[in-house]
Amino acid sequence: MTTHVSYSELLHFMTQQLAFTGPDEATAEAHWILQALGISRLALRLNPQATVSPEQLSRAETIVARRQQREPLQYILGNQSFFGLELQVGPGVLIPRPETEELVERVLAQIPKTVAWRVLDMGTGSGAIALAIKAERPACTVVATDISPEALQIAQANGQALGLDVDFRLGNLLEPVCGETFQVMVSNPPYIPEADYVLLDPEVLQYEPRQALTPGADPLFCYRALAQEGRDLLAPGGYLACELDSQLAVATAALFIAPWQEVLLHADLQGRLRFLSARAPAEV
Ligand SMILES: C[S@@+](CC[C@H](N)C(=O)[O-])C[C@H]1O[C@@H](n2cnc3c(N)ncnc32)[C@H](O)[C@@H]1O
Repeated sequence: MTTHVSYSELLHFMTQQLAFTGPDEATAEAHWILQALGISRLALRLNPQATVSPEQLSRAETIVARRQQREPLQYILGNQSFFGLELQVGPGVLIPRPETEELVERVLAQIPKTVAWRVLDMGTGSGAIALAIKAERPACTVVATDISPEALQIAQANGQALGLDVDFRLGNLLEPVCGETFQVMVSNPPYIPEADYVLLDPEVLQYEPRQALTPGADPLFCYRALAQEGRDLLAPGGYLACELDSQLAVATAALFIAPWQEVLLHADLQGRLRFLSARAPAEV
């Protein structure tokens, strides 16, 4: 592009260059990049003919070129908002998805505002679920585990940046919390069958950590741990909620046999079965 480029010309150029993402997404991403360059929507609306600086132009061109290589914009810009929190993300950690906010809402609906319960998030990634719960229910003790040291490092940095005290622990499945008790357990574990994994968009396949998406040959691997070991970690009447693959919803629910109670599948806003909840039996 030439050096005298207006805000609106840059927006138009980027929208065109990002057309491969689809019209709505291209516009949204172009606006998002403008914002990252320090050009707010308000500034764009009030002064569309203002000239972008050479530094802003060069940065925009670099971002668009990386995006054309199918690198997720969240990794390029280094952040993603989740449940009102601004989270740092980067290679090594899954970009939190909007539907996972629905999982957080379901869990929060089960935790009264002032209780000092213990809450576990297994497979925390960027810390998204754990941090959102701690932000909304500060009296709770929130513990979060992940097998990936890279993910845990980012989760810890997010906790520090947001001033939210979550106890992040490295380890496989529920091993880091063996012998402990929680009133609530939540998890968005890897669940994509290997055969489906290879069909994912290049953004996901080439850039996001495989370990965060597919558990390998057995897509129900993590749910088996939640259904078996998880049961022993829940207090009487305790609540479990997890995200799942809609095509495996029934198979996942079938793992939660007695003494699990109130095993329910829930649809997301698109009407697909994406969540499971269950309760540990109450004390007799
Ligand atoms: C689908 S991502 C979810 C990340 C985050 N909770 C979210 O919703 O954005 C699954 C996470 O589980 C972690 N994970 C995969 N296998 C695991 C295992 N065996 N034990 C513990 N964590 C595991 C991955 O590293 C990844 O961070």
